[in-house]
Amino acid sequence: MGKVIIFGNQKGGVGKSTSTLLAANAFSSPPFNLKVKVIDLDEQQTIGYLYEGEIERGTRPIWEIIPYPESITGGKIHKFLKVFNKAMDECDLLFVDLPGYLEEGGKTDTVSPMADFVFIPFTPSDKDIYSTQTYLLAMLDKIKQVEEEQERSLKVVPFVNKIDTRVRSQLTYVKGILEAFDEVHGIKGMKNMLGLYKDHANAGIDTNLYGKVNKMKELNLTRWVDEMYQIIMDDE
Ligand SMILES: Nc1ncnc2c1ncn2[C@@H]1O[C@H](COP(=O)(O)OP(=O)(O)OP(=O)(O)O)[C@@H](O)[C@H]1O
Ligand SMILES: [Mg+2]
Repeated sequence: MGKVIIFGNQKGGVGKSTSTLLAANAFSSPPFNLKVKVIDLDEQQTIGYLYEGEIERGTRPIWEIIPYPESITGGKIHKFLKVFNKAMDECDLLFVDLPGYLEEGGKTDTVSPMADFVFIPFTPSDKDIYSTQTYLLAMLDKIKQVEEEQERSLKVVPFVNKIDTRVRSQLTYVKGILEAFDEVHGIKGMKNMLGLYKDHANAGIDTNLYGKVNKMKELNLTRWVDEMYQIIMDDE
């Protein structure tokens, strides 16, 4: 049965879909070679449309997409659960891409307790930090909910995305935020961050950036993927 991974934040544009693509591409390629599926639950279908477009242009995908723009609330949850459980049975890693809102009974609210990991991308902008904190608190509630209701656990791991290598003060700032998350909430973030790079922004459905050399060691996608792999696999 596959592990379920969500990149979540109620703030739009922090890189939920981009991180999903980067991770899906890396983990489905060597040296990991995992069977990866992605459910696109966002009505915007960022990944769904990109996938469709690339297939039309002849790209051969290395992982499978399951577009699911429909609602999953009320009675509709049963249909979704069938799709979700089947996908989980058939892969090693199941990513779920969610819309950027957090309302009671909404998609994030419903799906996050079903995940094994919620990775929270945030960027060095103050506005992001505020939304990220609210989201983090909501996820801490989910952890409690999961602990009370089920025997499995939910891990929440923030990480920094879109660091601009030309602005060194950004690093000091986000490191402070990560320290605060740890001290106040006992939530450890990832050590490795993702830089603001064209390569990342242009990620398609078969572009594997793992192993590419990057001058800035701290902002290296390879290290980010390795760290994420360790977090996911250490969870036995
Ligand atoms: N590390 C990065 N480097 C450069 N550009 C990035 C990076 N991460 C994300 N982007 C760009 O930022 C924009 C928003 O990213 P993305 O769509 O992944 O965010 P999102 O959180 O999924 O947004 P939404 O809430 O709309 O779903 C996109 O144009 C994407 O290409
Ligand atoms: Mg998105």
